[in-house]
Amino acid sequence: MGAAVVVVGTHWGDEAKGKFVDLLAQDADVVIRYGGGPNAGHTVIVGGETYKFHLIPSGILSPRALCILADGVVVDPDVLASEMDALEARGVSLDNLRISQNAHVILPYHQALDALEERAKGENALGTTGRGVGPCYQDKAARIGIRMGDLVDPHRLRARLRAVLPLKNALLTKLYDADPFDEATLLERLSPVADRLRPFVADTLALAADAYAAGKAIVFEGAQATMLDIDGGTYPYVTSSHPTSGGATIGTGIPPTGIGQVIGVVKAYTTRVGAGTFPTELLDERGSRIRERGHEYGTTTGRARRCGWLDAVVLRYAARTNGLTGICVGHLDVLAGFESVGICVAYQKNGRLLRDFPAGDVTLLDGCEPVFEELPGWPDDTSLTNATRFEELHPNAQAYVRRVEELAGVPAVMVSIGPSRNQTLIPPGVGAPRALFTAGRAAVSAQRRAAEVLPPRRS
Ligand code: IMP
Repeated sequence: MGAAVVVVGTHWGDEAKGKFVDLLAQDADVVIRYGGGPNAGHTVIVGGETYKFHLIPSGILSPRALCILADGVVVDPDVLASEMDALEARGVSLDNLRISQNAHVILPYHQALDALEERAKGENALGTTGRGVGPCYQDKAARIGIRMGDLVDPHRLRARLRAVLPLKNALLTKLYDADPFDEATLLERLSPVADRLRPFVADTLALAADAYAAGKAIVFEGAQATMLDIDGGTYPYVTSSHPTSGGATIGTGIPPTGIGQVIGVVKAYTTRVGAGTFPTELLDERGSRIRERGHEYGTTTGRARRCGWLDAVVLRYAARTNGLTGICVGHLDVLAGFESVGICVAYQKNGRLLRDFPAGDVTLLDGCEPVFEELPGWPDDTSLTNATRFEELHPNAQAYVRRVEELAGVPAVMVSIGPSRNQTLIPPGVGAPRALFTAGRAAVSAQRRAAEVLPPRRS
């Protein structure tokens, strides 16, 4: 049996998970993107070349990894096709790309409804990415979705659209007073992109299950992050899927017991896009400085991200809820040059101290004041830019990472000091990223052995 490593974001997304997935993918046999859609955006820099993805797993840059878009992903066919074209134009092979026939398709009416719903919500708008992600997941849950297997089969597509389009058009015209979509026009528009994607659509559940049975090394690439989980996040300011590790295996062909390691990607500070409470947000010059140094503008929407000190209350919650076994600490370089840096270790509200994230009632977050621990900063000098080993970092930068580990309750397995692959340091005693697969296998075997000692059931 194989073992899987799940990579999740610990806060509100944009933690640079792509970089760490890319590193792990060098030693992986399969990389599975399990949720979200073109609302995500990840940037990977390899050998001075910058690659930006929305849908395609970062693992595509590894020649050996099979890259799967699983059932839980919502696919905008135009976005996917243009990413594929761009990669091919740069000489990246797509031979290893597979798209689940069960993945749902974002259609033009989903994008129209995303914009109309946001407008109708007025001051309660979520600030979605406007990519039609929410309306597509709504249709999936309402059992009126159109899946990749339908898209690439002209007869099935016509039949599904005939069943679904009247419902969507009624909503568009009667509720929103908007234009309806015409079946024939839509079919004509979708035909070329369906042709482009058809060779990549496959039974990915069988492919992944076979890889797992054959003992392969598997990476689950999360999109978005813990606090954007539709259940575990800061509802209603969340996305429509389950970015947490609990959502990773659903619709992939791999069982939850196959997860051997769960790695949380933590940014050295915290950011958020869109509306919703953000206790550690820095509305002053320090926030702007982080934004500019960290290029904190959305890969997908270009929106300026809200920036603040690291929220370790959220980090502890992410560690518990995802069952983190390790963390990757990123963007350490962005925080360089501050005299001191803050970490939020608790919230204060009406004279009461809240040490734990109020997941049971996130409305308690409103009006919370962060309680900061202040740590000495580290210089923006060669101790950072030239470091090739963790021990070469300025002692204050090392101490910061150690404090983040302590607060998360799990070790840092990688530390990033810049966007490139080679700007990654492995703390002493941890081992190369591939050690995570070995550790994952050991964890899965131990779990299996523990299950074997359960007393046999009496009939
Ligand atoms: P949606 O996923 O486009 O429906 O947007 C819902 C919320 O999730 C909005 O606040 C978005 O800004 C946020 N969101 C969705 N995807 C990402 C992401 O990849 N990074 C950060 N925020 C995201």
